[in-house]
Amino acid sequence: MEPKIIPAILVKDREELLARISRVKNFVETIQLDIMDGAFVPNRTIGLDGLAGLPEANYEFHWMVQEPAEWIRHFPGNHMHIVHLETITSFRGLQELVEETGGRLGLALNPETPLEKLIPYIPKVEEALVMTVHPGFSGQAYMPEMEEKIRKLRASFPDLDIEVDGGVNKKTIGRAHSAGANLLAAASAIFAQDDAEQAIKELKECALSGCGE
Ligand code: DX5
Repeated sequence: MEPKIIPAILVKDREELLARISRVKNFVETIQLDIMDGAFVPNRTIGLDGLAGLPEANYEFHWMVQEPAEWIRHFPGNHMHIVHLETITSFRGLQELVEETGGRLGLALNPETPLEKLIPYIPKVEEALVMTVHPGFSGQAYMPEMEEKIRKLRASFPDLDIEVDGGVNKKTIGRAHSAGANLLAAASAIFAQDDAEQAIKELKECALSGCGE
């Protein structure tokens, strides 16, 4: 499937959030907002107040929070809500809530969570996100051993949107895409560069041609 680059924004304040959105919004279809509550992961990002009244764009929320329903209910609209499988207490309740907001539901899987736990939910969600780092921080090293999950998912679900997140850069993106991920989230490989547009372009080229080690 065609690779799509998704800039991931992990920030603590609104000024930085708006600055990052404006650096990438003209060059991509979707922007990921990483939200952390300091409970599900040992880091805390911008909260509900800072997220109010976002600029017009196509967002996906990556909810690294213990109680995703308490956050999702505040964001009506056609957003993608990526929830960690590890946090789900009632899948049906979550599905209904996301439907009520007019959004779409995706599921994310931490590195230590076996793929088998995700499989039964796949027909009921819009995408699967395979973490290639332990969630919490940008700039960590990509875990190539997670590619087995991606390969198995792709083999079973040829049309599924499969996203990879964590340590995606020019060296790793080719192998993530070859394994079967079509959505490629990256934070530092885009925002730590001077020219975000160029970084996005190069990531896409490397996804297709492999600029790896
Ligand atoms: C990890 C987050 C990622 C992270 C990616 O906790 O879910 O989206 O920001 O950062 P990089 O691309 O720098 O590994």
